Amino acid sequence: MSHKEARPGTFGASPPLRGTARVPGDKSISHRALMLAAMARGTSRIEGLSEGEDVRATAAALRAMGVPIEREGGAWTVDGVGTGCLLQPSGALDMGNSGTSTRLLMGLVASHPITATFTGDASLSRRPMARVVEPLRRLGAAIDSSPGRRLPLRVRGLCPAIPLAHRMTVASAQVKSAILLAGLNIPGITRVIEPVPTRDHSERMLKAFGADIRVEGEEILLGGEAELKPQLVVVPADASAAAFPLVASLIVPGSEVRVEGVGMNPGRAGLFHVLREMGADLSIENEREEGGEPVADITARHSALRGVDVPPALAPSMIDEFPILFIAAAFAQGITRTSGLGELRVKESDRLAVMAEGLRAIGARIEEQADGLILHGTGGDPLPGGGRIDPRLDHRIAMSFAVAGLACAAPVSVADMSPADTSFPGFEAMIEGLTR
Ligand code: S3P
Repeated sequence: MSHKEARPGTFGASPPLRGTARVPGDKSISHRALMLAAMARGTSRIEGLSEGEDVRATAAALRAMGVPIEREGGAWTVDGVGTGCLLQPSGALDMGNSGTSTRLLMGLVASHPITATFTGDASLSRRPMARVVEPLRRLGAAIDSSPGRRLPLRVRGLCPAIPLAHRMTVASAQVKSAILLAGLNIPGITRVIEPVPTRDHSERMLKAFGADIRVEGEEILLGGEAELKPQLVVVPADASAAAFPLVASLIVPGSEVRVEGVGMNPGRAGLFHVLREMGADLSIENEREEGGEPVADITARHSALRGVDVPPALAPSMIDEFPILFIAAAFAQGITRTSGLGELRVKESDRLAVMAEGLRAIGARIEEQADGLILHGTGGDPLPGGGRIDPRLDHRIAMSFAVAGLACAAPVSVADMSPADTSFPGFEAMIEGLTR
């Protein structure tokens, strides 16, 4: 991906935030919608697709493999080619910052008779790929990777590949989904055994597209050589994006912010449970189902938060929300303890180390452990602020410290807000819009 210019941001003590925040479509669901629509035969329409850089990387890669994808009047159309019909791309597939694009597309390619090279930015090139390389090799794909099983890497698919029975060794919806996507073009039954449940967007959407998929306890069974039917997919608002304006509203006195149509998949909604335990005034209303996913409207009002011990078992259901939870905890009364979060060290950045460093820089009292942070909150008082944060190409770090700045005494400067564009284009304008 071409080198982008840094976009510095400064975030200082804010007047009350008020109004309805618009947030992008769910990033996880958007990737899957493009990929399953590509595997269906015929034209699918996707409404509310995330237009962040990560999802655009998926769309560009699918186009490079012969799938026509267009934006038409606010919606997206995908002329699906059918399972098994991806074409050989002529150049490397640039995944930018996106782990989900990389791992899921590696799965799709693994059972196609094509070879694809995956490249990415400096952050993505540091992230571990062994977790997906190993199972995809077992189904017959040949994969050459850079040292440490990292990007750049090349996947030579096998067709027909061998149906896999894979027991998950790490709680990862990306790995699970990579195997299921590979299984779409493999004769026989692909089985994934998932002892620790993770977001089940893939399973829900595969069902909606007409795949032969069953979930029996811990086991997911998918019939291969699938003939998927094109669909209208309506993507809910991204809960992980909604978390930023909602937490901002909890920590800035006098605020009341609403986000409508937020995806509430049980594999994603852990943050809202923890915030309620912390005493957050959160109304979750109009709970309904849209496009096979639970959604709700959420309103957050400024609250006196209390520190809590976050049960490690909740981690998979809020794995992307710890950076913003740490910010909320830094303003709570008392101590918040988190543990079991080793996975945060291999996200877009080492989120335990980078959050610890940044929180110290704005005057928070924290202790970094091997697998979590312990935070001593201010009891609702402003933090000193004034620090300068390097978000290390991590969108959620940039947005978390932007939110923190709104409740600090001195402005917080974020060296580069451009990583926010991977998942939340227009983030700074959204925050500003809530203060007018
Ligand atoms: C995602 C799964 C999670 C999450 C990521 C999106 C997905 O990653 O952190 O942002 O869409 O499946 P892991 O599967 O690595 O936990």
